Amino acid sequence: MNMLPINEVLQGDCLELLAKIPSGSIDCVFADPPFNLKKKYNSHKDKLLEIEYLAWCKAWISECVRVLKDDGFIFLHNIPKWLTFYAGFLNEIAIFRHWISWEAMTAPMGKTLQPAHYGILFYSKGEAKNRFKEVRHPHKRDRRGVLFKDYGGKKNILHPFGPLCSDVWSDIHRIRHAKNRDNHPCQLPPHLLERIILMSSEKGDVILDPFLGTGTTALAAKRLGRKFIGFEKDSEYCKIARAKLEAEKFISKVGDFYVSFHLNEIITLRECDWNGLKNYFELPQIPKDIDGQKIKLRQTIIEQKSFFDVSNHKPHNKPKELK
Ligand SMILES: C[S@@+](CC[C@H](N)C(=O)[O-])C[C@H]1O[C@@H](n2cnc3c(N)ncnc32)[C@H](O)[C@@H]1O
Repeated sequence: MNMLPINEVLQGDCLELLAKIPSGSIDCVFADPPFNLKKKYNSHKDKLLEIEYLAWCKAWISECVRVLKDDGFIFLHNIPKWLTFYAGFLNEIAIFRHWISWEAMTAPMGKTLQPAHYGILFYSKGEAKNRFKEVRHPHKRDRRGVLFKDYGGKKNILHPFGPLCSDVWSDIHRIRHAKNRDNHPCQLPPHLLERIILMSSEKGDVILDPFLGTGTTALAAKRLGRKFIGFEKDSEYCKIARAKLEAEKFISKVGDFYVSFHLNEIITLRECDWNGLKNYFELPQIPKDIDGQKIKLRQTIIEQKSFFDVSNHKPHNKPKELK
């Protein structure tokens, strides 16, 4: 593979496919491997001996770091138990940035603390001084786009859209309803990937996912104007991913700025875009009382009924250019 397989979903084993990617060619890797928890995949047996699983993980993690550019980022999603080993491998060859805790309740297991988060290990290959972009999520209590009520008398000093994202993500839920899922046991929500992509890449950058499943990372990259490369062992999952990508027409933008939507609201925006983006909001005249005002952006999008709906994969209309 002399040229990168840009915007392609390749069926095959990730180690064989990674071997064909040139070193230093990828901006960002996101990997969501099988967790070795006996999940029912079409063609993957999710039950290796612990020692085999970890040796396999070490092999593909090393390959993922090799293909990254010097300032590239790598994100590894898994349960904390396996991430402790991943961190051991990665500390030798990359630079730790964060352990992101993605809150997600699981069924009670008994005789143990209740696992309530997945981890996303975040490393950079080198120093990567300029790659990371701070991201914001909406205020928890005022979900109408900007802050309306004055909880605790602090409104004047709070950002009108919402706080900077920390390393604990509680506002993104797993896909709950079967009607919103593909026929895959552990599909991730696209807006989780969109947040990661917004904070770690620019338009045109290349995002690689060695365990693409039914295409979440590629879909998020496409909506955000990034390029993708996806590997997946199972032919049925590849087929679903390709069909979704083909059908996807939504560009996740407001004006010139890429943002992430979930249902009717922006769920992630970049701090560096706020000066331009704020023109699309009816911002309160702080400290004037503005109870009852509505955010222009959300209203306009709802009125146009052209909004991105995560529940199906039909082509979406792009919202008209907002005034
Ligand atoms: C946890 S799932 C990824 C789900 C994906 N993030 C999504 O949202 O759809 C792991 C995927 O890795 C695939 N897989 C397992 N072993 C693989 C291998 N050696 N090479 C490539 N893909 C593999 C499985 O078929 C499964 O779809």
